[in-house]
Amino acid sequence: EEQLKWIKALLPNKEDGKGDRPSCPYATSINGAPLADPQYALRAGVRGPLLLQDWQLVEKHTQFNRERIPERIVHAKGSGAFGTFTVTQDLSKFTKAKFLNEVGKKTEVFIRFSTVAGELGAADAERDVRGVAMKFYTEEGNWDLVGNNTPVFFIRDPSLFPDFIHTQKRDPRTNMRSNEAAWKFWSEHPESLHQVTILMSDRGIPTGYRFMNAYGSHTYSFINKDDERFYVKFHFKTQQGHKHYTNAEAAKVVGGDRESSQRDLYEAIELGDFPRWKCYVQVMTEDEAGACPFDPFDLTKVWPHSMYPLHELGFLELNRNPDNYFAEVEQAAFAPKNTVPGLGHSPDPMLQMRIFSYMDAQNYRLGINHNQLPVNRARCPIFCPQYRSGHMSLGEIKDANFNPDAKVNSMLEPPLKLEGDAFRPVPKNPDDYTQPGNLFRLFDQDQRNRLFNNIADAMEGVSKEVMEKQIEHFSRCDPAYGAGVRDAIQRRSK
Ligand code: HEM
Repeated sequence: EEQLKWIKALLPNKEDGKGDRPSCPYATSINGAPLADPQYALRAGVRGPLLLQDWQLVEKHTQFNRERIPERIVHAKGSGAFGTFTVTQDLSKFTKAKFLNEVGKKTEVFIRFSTVAGELGAADAERDVRGVAMKFYTEEGNWDLVGNNTPVFFIRDPSLFPDFIHTQKRDPRTNMRSNEAAWKFWSEHPESLHQVTILMSDRGIPTGYRFMNAYGSHTYSFINKDDERFYVKFHFKTQQGHKHYTNAEAAKVVGGDRESSQRDLYEAIELGDFPRWKCYVQVMTEDEAGACPFDPFDLTKVWPHSMYPLHELGFLELNRNPDNYFAEVEQAAFAPKNTVPGLGHSPDPMLQMRIFSYMDAQNYRLGINHNQLPVNRARCPIFCPQYRSGHMSLGEIKDANFNPDAKVNSMLEPPLKLEGDAFRPVPKNPDDYTQPGNLFRLFDQDQRNRLFNNIADAMEGVSKEVMEKQIEHFSRCDPAYGAGVRDAIQRRSK
């Protein structure tokens, strides 16, 4: 508590009622001494040069030169807000997580929304997947659920992630995004069809972060007090309704406002119009997972709701804007490794890679002590990591006097049965076409026409060879899908 207060005192606050800035009778340098003069440098006479001994001036420029840190390698542009998660249904038969064990229980959360491919200054209203990273400050430690606004992903094997992201980012020679690179990758990896269909559908450009669902996407696990494991998928359904822009509407919005999603979220919260999402889980027993006709750990697949219905769990409400964007949003670090007793991972290889990858990225982006920053710090009553020192330590972590024999078994998971030889398996009959085909068949004709046109727009400048390969994949999902895309492309070339 004392340490938190001390850290908070370093941040600007709103308590003086003067907006985001602390009240300042005069400016000081970083050592706390008053500035000799905030506007005029120390010079040798009226027309003379600067003097190096003007340490206040030198300090000001050295601080300024270090105001930027590396942006996130993906999901660089984002918006964040604090809020609460409230339990509405008792699912303790599936999980022993304490923060979920009682109807009405509230847990503080911090959520960061983002686009994926654009850089820090990218416009919000772009056709892209949206990230939704959640940090639950639970009484047993922080639980991070780092998901997207889509229930599936483009790939199922983590070896491909950097290659895939390279096709979404700027070409190293032209320094421009490349439609050819994106579609070449997708046409060579039909497991992307499901996610590509969602991305090119109406849901590809939400009007703001409040108007979309969020998903954990991967299969995670719940562990109950009897040490039974259940596989789960998390769904967060927007209570604001779904709202999207067409390509033409988005182009107009971007022309007038590059921060449309940031503005929408920030202003709604400032006005007290707090957005909410209802949270549900799909549950699969370990036996069901073993007998499942499809791979339940394949991130390119959804679990049919008819087989695995949604169980309500609670709701999420965002009700407080951060006081300092850089300190709390830019320096936020979400990591899929962060779990608490009763919540675990699964054998999904994409998730397994992410357990490592985020911690590594954040140690580079923010430094080894980023978990001491207020937004990232665990708020559980017992907090005794056995780490010390390193860059930018706030001295928060002390060598705790702990008893190594005092074993707390709540974090132990039941043994996970493994089978087979270690090798690099190529999935047998992964069926990349049925689920995207089913999704396509759910769309009415107007939705299909917009899908065809969005794909034709996104294929601008793509080579005939790549286009043909991709149309063949669409046709395998549904002949009407391939034909509609071909027709939309041909109409453009006339
Ligand atoms: C951010 C890696 C797949 C959602 C990031 C970051 C890395 C990364 C390195 C930047 C982290 C930081 O600097 O703080 C990977 C790898 C993946 C993968 C290696 C697959 C092997 C996914 C998937 C999802 C996802 C499947 C969603 C289901 C996000 C989100 C962020 C993010 C929401 C932004 C977090 C924030 O707001 O700070 N990813 N990612 N990623 N990723 Fe992934």
